[in-house]
Amino acid sequence: MSSDLTAYLRSNRERFEQEFVDFLRIPSVSTEKRYAEDVARCAEWLAEIVREAGMDNVEIIPTEGNPFVVAEKMVDPAAPTVLVYGHYDVQPVDPEELWDAPPFEPTYKNGRIYARGTNDDKGQVLMHVQALEARIKGGFGMPVNVKLCFEGEEEIGSINLETFLRSAADRLACDAVIVSDTGMLGIDIPSIGTGLRGIAYLEVFVDGPAGDLHSGSYGGAVVNPAFALAQIISKLKDEDGRVTVPGFYDRVRPISETIRAETRALPFTDEEFIEETGAPALDGEAGYSTLERLWYRPALDVNGMISGFTGDGAKTVLPAKASAKISMRLVADQDPDEIAQLFTKYVESLAPEGVTVRVVPAHGGWPWSGDPDSPLFEAAAQALEDSFGRRPVYIGEGGSIPIIPLFEEVLKGPVLLLGFAPPGGNAHAPNEWMDVETYHKGIETIARLYDEVAARGI
Ligand code: BES
Ligand code: ZN
Repeated sequence: MSSDLTAYLRSNRERFEQEFVDFLRIPSVSTEKRYAEDVARCAEWLAEIVREAGMDNVEIIPTEGNPFVVAEKMVDPAAPTVLVYGHYDVQPVDPEELWDAPPFEPTYKNGRIYARGTNDDKGQVLMHVQALEARIKGGFGMPVNVKLCFEGEEEIGSINLETFLRSAADRLACDAVIVSDTGMLGIDIPSIGTGLRGIAYLEVFVDGPAGDLHSGSYGGAVVNPAFALAQIISKLKDEDGRVTVPGFYDRVRPISETIRAETRALPFTDEEFIEETGAPALDGEAGYSTLERLWYRPALDVNGMISGFTGDGAKTVLPAKASAKISMRLVADQDPDEIAQLFTKYVESLAPEGVTVRVVPAHGGWPWSGDPDSPLFEAAAQALEDSFGRRPVYIGEGGSIPIIPLFEEVLKGPVLLLGFAPPGGNAHAPNEWMDVETYHKGIETIARLYDEVAARGI
């Protein structure tokens, strides 16, 4: 990349940040219906900025849910074509009272921008758009063809993406898919993702008496659904931190010695991880390190529990119902549908007398692993090294992007996870942030990446 391009990026830093701030101001929360208009407005905003970047055939494609924003820059039929995927929808902000500044009023502090969506995934989406702008509008040219596909439903399980992918397979045809929706091992450690965990998400409903009861008049004589739910949950893992659902580990591939050694060699310590989480101690499946637990072993977590009186003060009540939202992170070769069935059967078998238990699946997605030997990974490694001044590390990812295996299947190209979310960046939590320097280095990396891909092929 010529120094002129770096100069272009430097002289546009402030405007790039201003656009980022404008993007963050739109509360495109996909999980709540009341934000539907904001989500639509966000798609419009994104389409416009993509158009201004000089992309062609920019289109907002409506679905039964939230629209896609697609665009392309086809420069040479003989050159490779990369498809960039990301999402402009964000997670809800609650608990809002725990934010230090309002979640949709982006705030600068200590070299960071705080707002919902800064790292997951608006910042990473906009890096791509601004890198494209730099190449196209800056007059530096495109050595590869690029297509963009941004969705507004990633945080609710990409409901309409599969249908769209299959029906628009020609339009989205490409040689490789680049996804920037993952993280970095450290704030100054450029990272390339080699895999993602899958997910099986279910809800457990426990029903007891016909209505809430006075806990003095009835407590001790009627089964309490909250207690029954707690009993069920307590039986989902054993003392070694292993999930007790029968058959849960049947398809789990053991971690190879090579991967274990590579993982051990990464610059990571439990002490720093404890600091990042603010948790008093770590825990997990016996016999595995923290990174192994996060990247290569499955997990089961309670995401939420609802029951009884949760207001201020004390109310003596025996609740009629209790429910819990439970997700399992999966690794190769666990099948999300099969795991959901095994979980359902097991939880139903744990139902104590005196309550009824229902298990309702929410969504699921397959685990994924990429091919670190592909030229695409080498191209990304070079672009990252040139922008961050440091050779990147290859890392696993504990999170899930259920659409990725489908990209491979339908579009038949390799997938690259080029992530810029900082560790401890509070994705899905209050005070989500993005490091400002990393934001600009991300743009630079992507602007360089096209040359590296063109030089190596895919
Ligand atoms: N950006 C995340 C995925 C992610 C998280 C990758 C952490 C790597 C590390 C994405 O937006 C996300 O939150 N995905 C959901 C998927 C779910 C809603 C199906 C997730 O992982 O919980
Ligand atoms: Zn997310």
